[in-house]
Amino acid sequence: MTTEPKPAYSPGLAGVIAGETEICWVDPDAGLMYRGYDIHEMAEKANFEEVAYLLLNGELPTVAEREEFSRALAQERPLPKEVLEMMRLLPKNTHPMDMLRTGVSMLAPFDPELNDNSHEANIRKAIRLIAKVSTLIADGYRIQQGENPLPERPDLTLAGNIFYKLTGEVPQDYKIRMMDTIFILYADHEFNASTFAARVTAATLADMYAAVTSACGTLKGPLHGGANEESMKMLDEIKTADRAEKWMMNALARKAKIMGFGHRVYKSGDSRVPIMREIGRDLGKRVGKDQWIPICEKLELTMEREKHLCANVDLYAAPVFTMLEFPSELNTPIFAASRVAGWCAHVVEQHDHNRLIRPRSLYTGPAARPYKAPASNGSGA
Ligand SMILES: CC(C)(COP(=O)(O)OP(=O)(O)OC[C@H]1O[C@@H](n2cnc3c(N)ncnc32)[C@H](O)[C@@H]1OP(=O)(O)O)[C@@H](O)C(=O)NCCC(=O)NCCS
Repeated sequence: MTTEPKPAYSPGLAGVIAGETEICWVDPDAGLMYRGYDIHEMAEKANFEEVAYLLLNGELPTVAEREEFSRALAQERPLPKEVLEMMRLLPKNTHPMDMLRTGVSMLAPFDPELNDNSHEANIRKAIRLIAKVSTLIADGYRIQQGENPLPERPDLTLAGNIFYKLTGEVPQDYKIRMMDTIFILYADHEFNASTFAARVTAATLADMYAAVTSACGTLKGPLHGGANEESMKMLDEIKTADRAEKWMMNALARKAKIMGFGHRVYKSGDSRVPIMREIGRDLGKRVGKDQWIPICEKLELTMEREKHLCANVDLYAAPVFTMLEFPSELNTPIFAASRVAGWCAHVVEQHDHNRLIRPRSLYTGPAARPYKAPASNGSGA
């Protein structure tokens, strides 16, 4: 057996630079930039369509480019009837993330440019995927409720349309704006687990649908996107702010992982939390449900005191989605409806400058040993 010098090893790839990107930078010191633009400024001034365009193309669109991009996104929303039929065939208790992952995978053969990984074809496929992921979520949800999907409203933005198609009502303007801001916050986050999964898949020169299918599967886990569903279960259990500290102390004593806390990169605060917290406060007042944010704040204070761990965006996203009246199993899919823009931008970048992603493992199994034939069972055969 050959030996090799013991390589550097970082469990969970913590701190490892696994590739270059021009798309997004997560500043461990509570910052986030999309192609050089500060997320805080984007959340205040931009809309999601502009952000998606920026992530994909590298520059902000002109007004004409934004209109054209928004029109293309609206036009690409409808799903093939076979995909709708598939969603009707799934068991009624299918989790919306499983439905989404299956839907993305099934869309692949319907795309005439599936196996063309050129930059131009990838941008066109990205537009189709960003549009259709929202439709998969909204139509899938209505089908699961035993209702028919609603027709698209091309006059509404992507955030407004998914809101309308899920709830059956065109929301008030302030709710559309909030949804748009949430979509901007969730749109990209450099080499997070689902994006990295997408890039690993794309790096084999597999197509964009394969990469986004991998990403959907990865986002579902509670240590990643699934945390915004799990956080709501926790808040539901706590119920009131005066119970939060005791609940947290008990959970920490049991060494439980508290959803919505901790982050691999941010150590002094998640850049997205202040904006999401503010949306939560504002929404709580507007809809008369102001119990949730004080629970989160009390949990934050206790966690900071006990373990110096910061809240992440999913802690506040959970009550925001609840106050917008989405059932909590849609929290992670709604995250996906935005993050698909980032996934696609990363697939474009990966294909444009591709190198197979294939790390090594550190072998910790038995040392070399000779093969031994299975012992006879003594039957005399
Ligand atoms: C996000 C997360 C996976 C990052 O994991 P990581 O970088 O591997 O961090 P570690 O697991 O090394 O955590 C370091 C320490 O903080 C603790 N810790 C981290 N997150 C914690 C949490 N949410 N609740 C309780 N303790 C936590 C760990 O137990 C560990 O403590 P130890 O040193 O005493 O063993 C992790 O913080 C987590 O599981 N959070 C909850 C899920 C979540 O909200 N995910 C969404 C992320 S945006």
